[in-house]
Amino acid sequence: MSVDLGTRYLGLSLRSPIVASAAPHNDDPVVAGRLQRAGAGAIVLPSLFEEEIVAEELEIARSLEQGTEHFAEALDYFPAIGQFLGAAERYLGAVEQVKARSTVPVIGSLNATSRGAWVRYAHLIQDAGADALELNLYRVAADPGR
Ligand SMILES: Cc1cc2nc3c(=O)[nH]c(=O)nc-3n(C[C@H](O)[C@H](O)[C@H](O)COP(=O)(O)O)c2cc1C
Repeated sequence: MSVDLGTRYLGLSLRSPIVASAAPHNDDPVVAGRLQRAGAGAIVLPSLFEEEIVAEELEIARSLEQGTEHFAEALDYFPAIGQFLGAAERYLGAVEQVKARSTVPVIGSLNATSRGAWVRYAHLIQDAGADALELNLYRVAADPGR
């Protein structure tokens, strides 16, 4: 005898109320496949943190500017960087990949810090194929001065 565990969550029909909550390995399509086969009713991807995006951008800018104006040639020298995927692009790619292979709803998770970013990244995650979005309101206390 099989029991119907179907339920509704975030306006979605789930085959089971067991939801794999946001965690880093969930954005790996292989892990997501195993979670589905094990009976997960939905998969929540790890959170996209705006602070991670900003920190990465600052680090890249810092690296590219290193040596600027240290010697005359440096003024027309730009280090060659091949294709670079930032944290947001990597996240959106993972949403697409997991969604493409998933038979259960795929839920994105977002932790933004600025007003515009909440809306901007929510749209991007939606466009990448997420069925719903969790808002991660946890504040990362990353500034040791506060
Ligand atoms: C290693 C690890 C990473 C996590 N990453 C996230 C995350 O990126 N975003 C988020 O909202 N929650 C994250 N969580 C929280 C979990 O999604 C979950 O809410 C939490 O573990 C509570 O569930 P539990 O009582 O079943 O463990 C993480 C938890 C763990 C253990």
